[in-house]
Amino acid sequence: MVRLIVDAARGSYPVIIGSEVHRELRGVVRRLEPTSAVIVTDSNVRPWARRVAKAVKPAGVKPSIHVVPAGERSKSMAALHDVLAFLERQKVDRGGLVIAVGGGTVGDLAGFAASIWLRGIRLVAVPTTLLAMVDSSIGGKTGVNGTRSKNAIGTFWPPSAVVADMACLETLPPVNYRDAFAEVVKYGVAMDRGIFELLQNDRSRLLAGERRALERVVFRCVTAKALVVARDERERGPRAILNYGHTAGHALEAATGFRVSHGRAVAFGMRVAAKIAQAMELCGPRLVDAQDELLTEYGLPDRAPAADPARVLAAIRRDKKARRGRVAWVMPRRLGHAETGHDVPAALVRRYVRKALA
Ligand SMILES: NC(=O)c1ccc[n+]([C@@H]2O[C@H](COP(=O)([O-])OP(=O)(O)OC[C@H]3O[C@@H](n4cnc5c(N)ncnc54)[C@H](O)[C@@H]3O)[C@@H](O)[C@H]2O)c1
Ligand SMILES: [Zn+2]
Repeated sequence: MVRLIVDAARGSYPVIIGSEVHRELRGVVRRLEPTSAVIVTDSNVRPWARRVAKAVKPAGVKPSIHVVPAGERSKSMAALHDVLAFLERQKVDRGGLVIAVGGGTVGDLAGFAASIWLRGIRLVAVPTTLLAMVDSSIGGKTGVNGTRSKNAIGTFWPPSAVVADMACLETLPPVNYRDAFAEVVKYGVAMDRGIFELLQNDRSRLLAGERRALERVVFRCVTAKALVVARDERERGPRAILNYGHTAGHALEAATGFRVSHGRAVAFGMRVAAKIAQAMELCGPRLVDAQDELLTEYGLPDRAPAADPARVLAAIRRDKKARRGRVAWVMPRRLGHAETGHDVPAALVRRYVRKALA
């Protein structure tokens, strides 16, 4: 088991990473001394939510459980309304606690609810997907989707603690597990060469879901994300590095009506970005090849997704993070290091998006 501290403007919080860490979770809740606790979870994760409820009982709270339907559709204003109504029915006061038990969907929704109920109560995140462990549970972004735009409504509301238990990953659907590795490769290429090497060296252990290997990877990713988030919680600058692969990736998701999963889309986006970087002489072919190979080894092969290149290109131009029509690309320079804010000539974007979709 390892524990690290993430710095946030509202105070720092511990992240506990291990296997069968019920005792630690209990300790976390005990120290917070909540007047009451509510668990928010989804229909697939309910068994884990029950275990969490049992684990924290000796800390003096008996959490009630609110279950939302599994899937992205629960990141809606309607689902948020239901969570808030539940908190109201349970008479959760200022000293209350929300425990989010689930993947990024539950984490974003429950975090948002915690941030606005009584103008904000405490939140503990128990991420149950690999993506939530390495990415969404860290950094304090919460929110739901607008009617047409993803993550349009939300807050920055860091948790009081994050407890990641590798045991949860054993019931995770293989596709969701595989997809998370796109983000892990992202950390390896854009921020920390050590993560890249860990992925290479521990491949068979990680693909087999071995807990110790997973703990190591989760720890390294959380550390990488924590470092940028501490410098730039509200994404005014350096935090944008986390968008590596997401410019073309988000565009592919939008252009296919989200039929391509986020992980596959990010893998596509990283392949496109790396090829553009090579064409601009920002990085060499060795990086491009190493990234390609690693993605393929983790089940994210270089198969062209069925998508209309014109739509993908239009979606890139509409990029949420663009300012005054200027799309800022994150470009890899060498393994473990990328740079934000690159201007890419439109002709290059067209060429490499078309190629990747041919
Ligand atoms: N806040 C952030 O900084 C941030 C960062 C990245 C992604 N996100 C958001 O996270 C969401 C995606 O998160 P996700 O990939 O974790 O998806 P998810 O939460 O939808 O979970 C994926 C599926 O796995 C199921 N599941 C979760 N844990 C399980 C377990 N242990 N065993 C069996 N099934 C389980 C869920 O019910 C769901 O069907 C997106 O909405 C995305 O926008 C947020
Ligand atoms: Zn992502």
